[in-house]
Amino acid sequence: MIQDKLFEWYAIFGRHELPWRNTKDAYHIYLSEIMLQQTQVKTVLERFYFPFLETFPTLKSVADAPLDDVLKRWEGLGYYTRAKNLHYTALTCKGILPQNIVELEALKGIGKSTAHAIGVFAYGQVLPILDANVKRVLCRFFGLSTKDEKVLWERAWEFLNQKHPYEHNQALMDLGSLICTSRNPLCGECPLHVKCIGKIDPHNYPLPQKKNAIPVRQKIALVMYKDNKLGLIQRKERLLHGLWGFVQTLGRPNGYKKLGRVEQVYTHFKLELEVLLCEPIKEVDGWFSVEEIDKLAISTVDKKILKLLIASKPYP
Ligand code: ADE
Repeated sequence: MIQDKLFEWYAIFGRHELPWRNTKDAYHIYLSEIMLQQTQVKTVLERFYFPFLETFPTLKSVADAPLDDVLKRWEGLGYYTRAKNLHYTALTCKGILPQNIVELEALKGIGKSTAHAIGVFAYGQVLPILDANVKRVLCRFFGLSTKDEKVLWERAWEFLNQKHPYEHNQALMDLGSLICTSRNPLCGECPLHVKCIGKIDPHNYPLPQKKNAIPVRQKIALVMYKDNKLGLIQRKERLLHGLWGFVQTLGRPNGYKKLGRVEQVYTHFKLELEVLLCEPIKEVDGWFSVEEIDKLAISTVDKKILKLLIASKPYP
């Protein structure tokens, strides 16, 4: 069976040392899966996984903490909805994750593949997973040009190694990130090579989608100051919810001093901000000194604004 080849490959080349592969703690595995959803292994491993676990060693400790503290620990990792959902889920299940897949999948922020990953890696259940890497491997192996989830789940079930589900799934993820990469697949080193349909033309599986250039949003960021304090709002929009930041508007105020420009690329758009220093002209949620802002959870783009401000020391 070709799955045996994958199993053997994993024994030799798999990334066995990854910390979430050396635990059965469902919370640790859940946390790693959430962090890895939109972030590379290297970043999660080197900068975020261990510090987060040091502050929040159990899911109960996440539930007991205010959301602001969780967001603060997530700072820099981006996609803050993940942290909000983690906190919400910790509260919902009172710090104990269910073992049942249907119950896991009903929790906020846990999709089918993440539920399956927890099921296989923590609880030893026999399930396939289907993250972006695995999808690419399966599309190539079976010669599928579609990205249809239903079709892919069917193939994932069909391909699953029932005897070694743990190794099978970890191996597929490693294969996707080490060998069957999207740009430069190393087909000659792949354990699935013999039976892979996509090897003739790997870039066509799945069919590449035409990428539209992402839109640019140009706005003004207002650094409002009063008595050596800066006015901040607590963000309400979906992606940055709960984070503190500078007010953004479309128009310039009457009197201002130009501090510079910052930009940030998000998934669906690029934000270009002209940063202006001015007196209070808009409602804010709080006034803070630079030192106080350091203790708040703020987004990457607001960090850039703060850096600009500190570098130019413009106000009295
Ligand atoms: N991405 C998502 N889950 C992962 C895992 N268990 N190991 C490596 N990368 C992953």
